[in-house]
Amino acid sequence: MSSTTIASSASRSAAPGPALWSSRLAFILAAAGSAVGLGNIWKFPYITGENGGGAFVLVYLACIAVIGIPVMIAEVMLGRRGRHSPINSMREIARQEGVSRHWKAIGWLATLAAFLILSFYSVIAGWTIPYIFHALQGNLVGMDGAQAGEMFGQLLASPFELTLWHSLFMVLAVMVSVGGVRHGLERAVTWLMPALLLLLVMLVGFGMSTDHFGTALRFLFEPDFSSLTAAAVLVALGHAFFTLSLASGSMMAYGAYLPKGVSIVRTSMLVAVMDTAVALMAGLAIFPIVFANDLEPGAGPGLIFNTLPVAFGQMPGGSFFATLFFVLLLFAAWTSALSMLEAVVKWLEEQGMARRKAAISGGLAAWLVGLTTVLSLNVWSDFTPLDSFERFEGKTLFDLYDFLTANVMMPLVALLTAVFVGWVMKKSSSEEELGAGSMHRVWLFVLRYLTPVGLVVLFFYNV
Ligand code: PFF
Repeated sequence: MSSTTIASSASRSAAPGPALWSSRLAFILAAAGSAVGLGNIWKFPYITGENGGGAFVLVYLACIAVIGIPVMIAEVMLGRRGRHSPINSMREIARQEGVSRHWKAIGWLATLAAFLILSFYSVIAGWTIPYIFHALQGNLVGMDGAQAGEMFGQLLASPFELTLWHSLFMVLAVMVSVGGVRHGLERAVTWLMPALLLLLVMLVGFGMSTDHFGTALRFLFEPDFSSLTAAAVLVALGHAFFTLSLASGSMMAYGAYLPKGVSIVRTSMLVAVMDTAVALMAGLAIFPIVFANDLEPGAGPGLIFNTLPVAFGQMPGGSFFATLFFVLLLFAAWTSALSMLEAVVKWLEEQGMARRKAAISGGLAAWLVGLTTVLSLNVWSDFTPLDSFERFEGKTLFDLYDFLTANVMMPLVALLTAVFVGWVMKKSSSEEELGAGSMHRVWLFVLRYLTPVGLVVLFFYNV
């Protein structure tokens, strides 16, 4: 019997319990949809550019394999075992294990991280919408660097415009979330993920047709360890968590809908491989354009919105490819936002709210907090409330949210999760979910020793 058949028969036999993914494939698409997002297409290329290419990519791959995948397995497992929102799954598992119910804090911290990330993720994801319009209208044609900078600057300077796109993006996410697991999330990812893959393949195909594909390949895959710094290693580790949607409730929330009988280990590995493949493909789509136009690979966060449009504006068929590119970015961000929202919405449902009300309330609350990010990009750009601490000097609210989630909350949640699953939970419980054997032993070893050490170093280095 194929795993898909096992999954669907398992979900049928689970009725009339909570709704589950209809198949293993549905979970894979949803989890890959969560993982593949701005992190892969916006952030991965620019941090690779900033950190010198090949050697950084290798370290990043190692972080995904050695720490990311084991933590993902742990989170999906906790979700499936708890069968609730991250908060109540942790409460439920702590009860089953007969340990302190304070372990529920992992669920709270993770959900809070999902909520905060969603609030600013939506603002950034919103930027893709005006760029789709610009590309469609041919506004990028013939633009030089100064004009591209001005276009981006104007967008960031306008609280009204930013709010408009942020609102539109959040409405897209809420609209899907209202439909619930089967009719909302599953249906959306079944369309969006193949579309995303198609767009990406077309863009890589375009990259291959340029003269600079080889340069891009060498940049991504020829390691030069002399350019690797300790800070870069930590950036790679932090990004491994972000890109796999770990430590923020999403994988736990999606795991809660995973039918029994689906292999968590194999499925998580596949999701991680897909996420990594998309990040590398995004690099192979973007860097040939960067090199063909003599642009700076280390241009930072502006690489996609500031630098790339210049290149699109100068190449034949640029408006078409630019439209594809920004639609791709929008779809990727959309399916990620759904997973962050799910961690929150599921909890609201458990408080007695109907799905519709829960989705709208969760989205509305994140939207409201997102407005402070909008303002910190312009009107409040001088509002840097933690100036009295040297570490936070000059940081706007948006910078602080980013710092708090990526450098404090996510490493902390991942650390607590590793400790809980590695040391607190009974070995037999995780064996029940994952099966006993050498694979389980290796996984447990990593969670007990490697993950905590890696995270403690990350935490103290960054804070
Ligand atoms: N993995 C997403 C990305 O790479 O853009 C970001 C993300 C999604 C982070 C969901 C956290 C999360 F819970």
